[in-house]
Amino acid sequence: MSNADSVRGTLPFHLAGAFAPVREERTDLDLDVIGEIPPDLCGTYVRNGPNPRTGRSPAWFAGEGMLHGVRLEGGRARWYRNRWIAGDFAPNTHVVRHAGRILALVETWLPVEVTAELETVGPYTFGGALGSSMTAHPKICPRTGELLFFSQRPSRPHLTYYRADASGRVVHRAAIDVPAVTFMHDFAITERYVVFYVLPVLLGDVGSPVPIRWVDDFPARIGVFPRDGGNEDMRWFDVAPCTISHTVNAFEEGDTVVLDVVRAPRIMMPHALHRLTFDLRTGRAAEVELDPRFLDFPRVHPAVVGARHRHVYTVELCDFGPDGGFSRTVARQHDLETGAAVVHDFGDGVMPGECVVAARPGSAAEDDAWVILFVHRRDGSAAELVLLDARRFASPPVARVRLPCHVPLGLHGEWLPDGVAALA
Ligand SMILES: [Fe+2]
Repeated sequence: MSNADSVRGTLPFHLAGAFAPVREERTDLDLDVIGEIPPDLCGTYVRNGPNPRTGRSPAWFAGEGMLHGVRLEGGRARWYRNRWIAGDFAPNTHVVRHAGRILALVETWLPVEVTAELETVGPYTFGGALGSSMTAHPKICPRTGELLFFSQRPSRPHLTYYRADASGRVVHRAAIDVPAVTFMHDFAITERYVVFYVLPVLLGDVGSPVPIRWVDDFPARIGVFPRDGGNEDMRWFDVAPCTISHTVNAFEEGDTVVLDVVRAPRIMMPHALHRLTFDLRTGRAAEVELDPRFLDFPRVHPAVVGARHRHVYTVELCDFGPDGGFSRTVARQHDLETGAAVVHDFGDGVMPGECVVAARPGSAAEDDAWVILFVHRRDGSAAELVLLDARRFASPPVARVRLPCHVPLGLHGEWLPDGVAALA
């Protein structure tokens, strides 16, 4: 495949331009930097995404997973590495670190552990506690260091919830009674609860480019469940029919659970930022739109996961096409206290990916942080790793690390700071 293919429009959006897969693994040392990498920002940024080995795949979400990593240390960018995740099912969606293990994730299979240099170790089962798939969006509780996640499977119980302690040992597991396996790509946690989305999107034909289907008469419900609960403790709330792609965050306000998500009224429609509230006394849910723009990839500071957040980072997806693709993105910082939304537009031909928040060591302030992201070029030329100051989001980057090659616009990533084990 060539850039000429993408210019001619002969390829689907997910195989061309900024999305085009790469064909080789490489390691490059001591990268050029424009600006200054803060010397106390030490760790590795890792991002996962589909990268079909053959260069072809039926859908964006279908290719084998490849990790791209950039190591920052002592004010320098020490290396860039990209590695396919080895094995029959190469998780392509996300990557997290918990209890010292780095796990590549996809919601249809087991996690795969990788090393700090992104080499595959193999499938990981939490010591045999996890038998099948695991969500690609587990949550690390910043208060307790626990990892909370769920698994879905075709046979009953369709939904199982897990809680692993800070050492990575599964200490609680609960089967939850739901009528079917729904497309539940994400969930949420608060201080005392976990929140599940059982919405009218069921799994469709596996061979189809978009293997999900909308079912009009399937009730849309969101469940609020104690972290230590059993099936009988679930509180279900009826909500307007919708699909939720990603969680922003959730928190408690007295007896109310507040949930910010990216949602759409149906599948294959633009998603927007919404706030849902669940009153545990009355059993009633309410909903309000926070931002109508088509956006996704929401992130918050890792220290506010499950607690009240103020700042949200999203990617606005512009020029949305009938095939579900998009050809332009801008990064945005939302201040939910003031309602302001600050844009960082990298300009024509440059597409920012997901914004990950890296705390400034020693700081507890939500915006005393750096925002780390890849920016990709529509002409398929070399990408950059960009650091923005969260307090000056629209200002020119603090640093731009020039990567040696194109990096496909992918899915989710994490900043893995040095010297942090359980609370990474
Ligand atoms: Fe996701």
